[in-house]
Amino acid sequence: MRILIATASRHGATREIGQWLGASILREMSTHDSTTTVDVRDARDVDSIAEYDAAIIGSGVYMGRWLRDARSLIAREQAELESMPVWLFSSGPVDGSTPAEAQPKETKADWAIEHRVFGGKLERSGLSRFERAVVRLINVSDGDSRSRAGVLAWAVVISSRLTASAPNAPETSRLDSTPRTSERS
Ligand SMILES: Cc1cc2nc3c(=O)[nH]c(=O)nc-3n(C[C@H](O)[C@H](O)[C@H](O)COP(=O)(O)O)c2cc1C
Repeated sequence: MRILIATASRHGATREIGQWLGASILREMSTHDSTTTVDVRDARDVDSIAEYDAAIIGSGVYMGRWLRDARSLIAREQAELESMPVWLFSSGPVDGSTPAEAQPKETKADWAIEHRVFGGKLERSGLSRFERAVVRLINVSDGDSRSRAGVLAWAVVISSRLTASAPNAPETSRLDSTPRTSERS
C-alpha cells in the first residue's frame, strides 16, 4: 500500500505533525504489510496522487483558512481524492480557543473520512513583521498546543482502517467505497 501525507506549512508545525504521523503509520502498517510505503511531502511538490492508495492532507490555519498549497492540491486532485480513503488535519489554534465550526471550509469535505485539529505552534521570533502584527491583534501568545500523543493515537486509528481495507483483509472489514460521512472533531 502506498500512502501519501501532504502538508502545507509556513513555519514547520504542520510539516512536523506530518512527519510524526508518517513514522507512526509506517511502524503500525509494517506489522501487517512490509511493502507499505509512506511518503511525507510538501503539498506544493505533489504533482499527482494517482500512484497512491490513501492520502492524508494537512495545513496550518491562517486567518481562518487553510494555506494555498493545501487548497490547490485538493482542487487539483479532487476526482482522485474522492476515489480513495482520505483524512484531513489542521494545525490551528495555539490556545485551543478556535471553535470547531470556525475551522476552514476545506476541512468540511464530505468525501474525507475525518478531519482532526491538532492545535498549533507559534514562535514570534520566526514570524514576519506582518504576522507579528496579526498575532498581536488576535492576542495569541507563543506556545505549542500540538499533542504528539494525540497524533500517534490517530496514526493507530488510520492504520487499523487501512489494514482492514487491504486486499487480504476479511471481506466484511474492508473499507466501503461508497460515500463516507465526515467524522469531524
Ligand atoms: C499570522 C497568523 C495567523 C494565524 N491565524 C490563525 C487562525 O485564524 N486560526 C487558528 O486556529 N490559528 C491561527 N494561527 C496559528 C497557526 O495556525 C499555528 O501557529 C500553526 O501551527 C502554524 O502552522 P505552520 O507552522 O505549519 O504554518 C495563526 C498564526 C499566525 C502566525
